[in-house]
Amino acid sequence: MSKPVIEVRDLRKTFSIGGGFGKVEQFEALRGISFNLYAGRTLALVGESGCGKSTVARILTKVHPYTSGEVKYHGQDIAELKRRSEIKAYRSEVQMVFQDPFGSLNPTHTIAHHLKRPLLIHKQVPNNEAAIQEKLQELIQMVELAPDTLEKYPHQLSGGQRQRVNLARALGVGSKVILADEPTSMLDVSIRLGVLNLMQRMKKELGIGFLYITHDLATAHYIAEETAVMYRGQIVEWGDTAQILANPQHPYTKLLISSVPDPDLPFENLLSEAPNFTQDADKIREFSGILQETYHQVGDNHFVRNWEKAA
Ligand SMILES: Nc1ncnc2c1ncn2[C@@H]1O[C@H](COP(=O)(O)OP(=O)(O)OP(=O)(O)O)[C@@H](O)[C@H]1O
Ligand SMILES: [Mg+2]
Repeated sequence: MSKPVIEVRDLRKTFSIGGGFGKVEQFEALRGISFNLYAGRTLALVGESGCGKSTVARILTKVHPYTSGEVKYHGQDIAELKRRSEIKAYRSEVQMVFQDPFGSLNPTHTIAHHLKRPLLIHKQVPNNEAAIQEKLQELIQMVELAPDTLEKYPHQLSGGQRQRVNLARALGVGSKVILADEPTSMLDVSIRLGVLNLMQRMKKELGIGFLYITHDLATAHYIAEETAVMYRGQIVEWGDTAQILANPQHPYTKLLISSVPDPDLPFENLLSEAPNFTQDADKIREFSGILQETYHQVGDNHFVRNWEKAA
């Protein structure tokens, strides 16, 4: 396999939360996360609310500094990128796409405006109108939107179309890696697949590396070769998505599988056993309470962290 584009090693993040009366509490949001991202592949980061998924993405885009560990982009630690020009270049190559496709678009500007600005800021086209128009047409076609979309305003588009605009914007600035933070969770089921398929194409045809953040193992299976299941700031099970689905080991992974899958995706056929919909989530959380540093190998590319019942 080729070299990873991004390498994350033993990443830890502690937030200081200011309590009243000068009291400051420490909260360990990430407790030793490791993974690789490759060009033309997708890693899904799956886990329940608050487990630290977005914190990983925010660290990768240098919104938050990290407390310890390593995050390397093409072999260079991103903590060493300090000059404005370096950070700008890095951020154009490693872009985030968010859950709310409307939130990131300004209602008073056309789609053309949204795509044009970053092109110019990141100097992706010569600053002349013909070149810009050509690039805008190319981008809009790439994300399978009609050419007249450029003249429209965000409110004139559907959620799925707006998410395509956000993906076009990432392509426009020359992204090599896209961190997609629940990009389809606010979309109607009927248009979700279209956006997932577009991400698949971007991966295969343009070699984009994706980190796909989701609550949902079914969509993870649809687009991610590999999956990392996160629980309370750690990765509890990781490896080939198909192997994890066929042979889940960690009780928390089994719990995720048993949450109602997306009706549109042929999910249940992938499982060797029918999901157990009666699992008690609180019991499993209690049981998964103390995670150990040790892990064991289940299959070729399938690992699970050892755990103990909370004291
Ligand atoms: N800036 C911050 N200061 C303090 N705590 C934070 C900060 N950002 C996140 N946290 C905490 O870190 C934990 C992980 O948050 P994060 O947003 O990464 O979760 P998530 O997995 O993305 O959840 P969701 O699925 O709800 O988006 C949460 O307990 C959150 O309250
Ligand atoms: Mg989040």
